[in-house]
Amino acid sequence: MDARIAVLASGAGTNLQALLDDPQIGSCIVLVVADKPGVSALDRARARGVKPVALDPAHYPSREAFDRALTTLLEEEAIEYVMLAGYMRILGADTVRAFRDRILNVHPSLLPAFPGGHAVKDALDWGAKVTGATVHLVDEEVDHGPTVLQEPVLILPDDDELSLHVRIQEVEHRLFPRAARLLVEGRLKLEGRLVHVLGDDEETVGAGSKE
Ligand code: GAR
Repeated sequence: MDARIAVLASGAGTNLQALLDDPQIGSCIVLVVADKPGVSALDRARARGVKPVALDPAHYPSREAFDRALTTLLEEEAIEYVMLAGYMRILGADTVRAFRDRILNVHPSLLPAFPGGHAVKDALDWGAKVTGATVHLVDEEVDHGPTVLQEPVLILPDDDELSLHVRIQEVEHRLFPRAARLLVEGRLKLEGRLVHVLGDDEETVGAGSKE
């Protein structure tokens, strides 16, 4: 597989690690950008010899200036695909436009349920019995773009935020590299909001177990 991928992260970077560990995707990752210095995601990049960049919004006069700096960095590095792996900032419209249909985000719920930055807590607080993980293409709206892969996770009676998030992340770590491979292989075909996966038997993908 031949592509130049950047991963954007804000924290622990376990999804970044899942991408780095994927035999096909891992070797395509050439840049990891974090919006906070000192996060584990940057260490994970260093450990693999991938260029780590901390781009701190506090160092930019405005949101737009930060977004421009991010887009410029991605373009200077000749990035073709962008993976949002626990990136907790809203991506600027400029960046979305520059990489239209080439940005994936992983989110810890079955979107459109529980968008936003506290999806696991929100599902528990709501009293939902099922939640899950979603990988979707990124558009200008938050947690909104076309669904690529999704898989449910049952909420157990004694779950707390941590126990539930751990089970959701186990699913994320399988779904995200698979979705990344499908995107880079050119196997995703968009029809409005519907994502078809081109393969031996062309099919709309709903569940993550189907490839
Ligand atoms: C992941 O569970 C991801 O789905 C979530 O943050 C976590 C990051 O974990 N993202 C969001 O909530 C985005 N709205 P990680 O840093 O270990 O990959």
